[in-house]
This record gives sequence, structure tokens and C-alpha cells, in this order.
Amino acid sequence: LRDHSHHAEPIQDELLTALEQALHIAAAQLAVDHESLDRETRNPLRLAAELAPRLALGTDGRGMPGVLQDVAQLLRSTPSTASRRFVNQLFGGREPVAVATEWLAVLANSSLYTFKAAGAQVLVEETVLRKLLGAISFEAGEGTFVPGGSLANLLALVLARNAAWPSAREHGCPDTGRAVYSSAEGHYSLRKGAGMIGIGRAAVQDAVVDELGRICTTHLRRQLRSDRERGIVPLLINATAGTTVRGAFDPIDELADLAAEFGAWLHVDGALGASVALSPKYRHLLRGIERADSVSWNPHKLMGVPLQCSALLVRQRGLLAASLEESADYLFQSGAADFDPGHKSIQCGRRNDALKLWALWRRLGDVGWSERIERQFALAAYAAEQIRRTPGMHLVEAPPSVCVCFVVDGCDPAALCRRLEQDGTLLVGHGLVGGRRVVRLVCVNPALSETDLDWILRAVAETGAKITAGLRRPGPNGNDA
Ligand SMILES: Cc1ncc(COP(=O)(O)O)c(C=O)c1O
Repeated sequence: LRDHSHHAEPIQDELLTALEQALHIAAAQLAVDHESLDRETRNPLRLAAELAPRLALGTDGRGMPGVLQDVAQLLRSTPSTASRRFVNQLFGGREPVAVATEWLAVLANSSLYTFKAAGAQVLVEETVLRKLLGAISFEAGEGTFVPGGSLANLLALVLARNAAWPSAREHGCPDTGRAVYSSAEGHYSLRKGAGMIGIGRAAVQDAVVDELGRICTTHLRRQLRSDRERGIVPLLINATAGTTVRGAFDPIDELADLAAEFGAWLHVDGALGASVALSPKYRHLLRGIERADSVSWNPHKLMGVPLQCSALLVRQRGLLAASLEESADYLFQSGAADFDPGHKSIQCGRRNDALKLWALWRRLGDVGWSERIERQFALAAYAAEQIRRTPGMHLVEAPPSVCVCFVVDGCDPAALCRRLEQDGTLLVGHGLVGGRRVVRLVCVNPALSETDLDWILRAVAETGAKITAGLRRPGPNGNDA
């Protein structure tokens, strides 16, 4: 056989050139990342018209430098989720070692179905999973990385369904009344998942929450009893650790009692909040988590790892493969299932989302994680205190974790957030808390400081004052916004 390896060299040269150019683009992007948001990019129709020549996919190819220049332009027109003026979502910021590792992971382009294809990457993933499992006392458990918390919750529903109806995987769901109970302020993915796995969206019941946004277990017990009398059996109880809008933690231990009493699968949707398992100070918020059957955990939220990084952890080893395994003799040829994670994953081809988390964990250590999480909580408490002290602003509650919910006198929260976005000032969202619309400021970006929060709250107050005064802010050309 002739050695054809020299054919690879032109590709390697082009790749190295591309990476150098990418590094320059990254440096330019980082230099402007924290500046004010570009108000021109806030209008989708205007942006589409402006970018049309760059976006078009034509018959002929283009030179590589031009393509990367196009990418640079697209990045400039993309909201920077690392900006300290992006407090809109439950993720944000940029961890240097995790970002660099993510770039390098693309070079390996591994697929984690088999040890044969992924080698050391399989060991990395298993190391990270063991660490996550240990943090929630699931030492005898197992886990799998999935593309996001919604799919982690979907997989939990599948496991619960198959535990309730052992024949469901093979033959589908029998037509029996089963219900899923999740916080009225829980994430919509539970309902979406129920609609996908054959139990139906209508099976999901909203559990009433108390004034702090936690499932009221007295009420839920009554609901479970009355449903049982009507022949409805609970399939799964979902405890949310960190609700999407206010960041509240359901009482997991009490919900575990209910799950045991009524024979339901207990799932913890810890997409946001399972990370507090890494903080000795806040771990108590998860009391009872070791009694859960499954836990969703998104390191791409509170741990600041780039999207996507999300795991579903299961207390009992073997359940994942029992619900997901398929024989594929073209693929699984080692006979060593323990080192072929494809036996317990939803996907076939699957990228390694654990590598960037592993790198950041090496960088921070367990101590670094607890400091990080406690710092984000402290920032939320600081923002809350400033809101309390600001005339015309009203804090809804002491933040249960990293979400700060408040209102501004005389301002509709939706209009306020829209105006802040349109002016290119700030990206912040709004949501419902106890049926009341509020502004939600999220303190997950590790780069966020008290000074940033002061700036953000001043900007909110000023914009609120403009709205209430009915004033319109002049645009950069003297035009009205
Ligand atoms: C409580 C909760 N669960 C699940 C999810 C879904 O996670 P993902 O966006 O990774 O699908 C979210 C997203 O914000 C969430 O807040």
C-alpha cells in the first residue's frame, strides 16, 4: 500500500491558516463584546436586509478568508451572551479554559458511541459523570449527556413510563390514566415531553406553589389522593431545583415522601439548580435529592460551561440501557459495553459535551466551584438589596438563588424590557411570578460584578423614568428610537 498521508498537508495548511484568522476574529470580537449592544441589530427585518449578501448561499464557492470575514460580521450582529449587559437567560459569560477546550474538541470530532471511535474521550465523560453522580449521592448510579435540559427531562419521562409499564417500550402505552405532577412554575419541557412519549400533554398536572414558588406538598397530597380516587395513578412527580423565572427550589425530601407513598417516579429537574450540590453552603436546598430516581443537571447554566452541556443522572445503574439499548452489530463490536456509552444514550453519533466541563473542573477544583456558586448567589443578593433601596423599584422577594425579580413603578415589565432592548441598553427578560408579571435579572455570568449590577439597575431606573414620563429617547442620528 502506498502512503497517501502527504495529501493531507494542503488541508492542514489551510486549517492552520483558518485557525490563525479565527483567532484574530476572536480577539476583535472580545474587544467589543462588553460594549453596549448594537441597537441596529435588534430589528430582524433590517438585519436580514443588511446581512443578505453575507448570508446568501450561492452556486460558486468563495475563498476561505472571505468566508471567515462573513462569520466575523455575523458574530458582530449576534447578541453577545458573554456581555455583562446580557442578563436575560439562565446562562451567560465565558470561561476561558472551557471555550478553548470546546475549540479543541472540534479537532478531535469524536463520537462517543464507542471506545473504538472516541478513546480517551469516553474516559473523560465517565470521569465527569462519576463526579456529578457523587455530588448528589448517586454513587451506584449512571448518567448520560444529552443535548440540553429539555431532553434530559424527556428521558426521565421515558424511564418513568417504562418503569410504570414494562411493556411500553416494546408495544407503546396502554390506555390507562397516569399523571405527571410538576410545579405550576416549572419548565414547559415536561409538558412538551409528555406530548412526545405517548402519555399526552394533558397528563401533566400543575402542582400549586406557595408564595415562595415552591410546590405546596400539603396541597399536592390532596391532589394525589383525589386523583387516585378517580382512578388516576401518578407516573412521575417532578421537583424543580431552581425554577425558570424565580429560581425557587421545591422541597425534594417531602416530594420524595409523596413519591414513595403514591408509587411515583421522582425526578428532579435541576437544569438550573442541581449545581448547588457543589456548594457546601447551598447544598441544603437539594435536601433529599439522593432519594430521587433521576436528576437533570445543566452545567451550561449555573456552571458557565458553553452550551450545550447537560446530563441526565439516574440513581439505579442499568436503567438507561434498559430503555435505550439497541443492537447494532455494525457499530458495537467490542463486547465491552461499559466502555461503549452508545448503549445508554439517546443519540447515535454524539459529540463530547463533557470535555469542556472536565477542563473547567480541572481548572477550578471542587473549591473553585463552591466559590463560584456562592459568588453568583451573593451577586443576586446584592442586586436585591440595591433594588430594595431604590425608590420606585420593588423587589418581589429575596432571591431564592440567582434570579432577581422586581417591578418598577408605573412600568409594564414587558414594555420596560422591550424598551431596554430597542435602545441597545440591556437584554433582560420578564416572566410571571405568582401570576404577576415581573422583570427577571439573572446573575449567572461569572464576569458580572457589583459595579455592573449598579450600572444595570441605573439603566433600568432611567429607562423606567423615560417610559413613565412618556418621553422618547433620541436615536444616534437624532431620530426618535
Ligand atoms: C428548570 C428548567 N428545566 C429545563 C430547562 C431546559 O433546559 P434546556 O434549555 O437546556 O433545554 C430549563 C431552561 O431554562 C429550565 O429553566
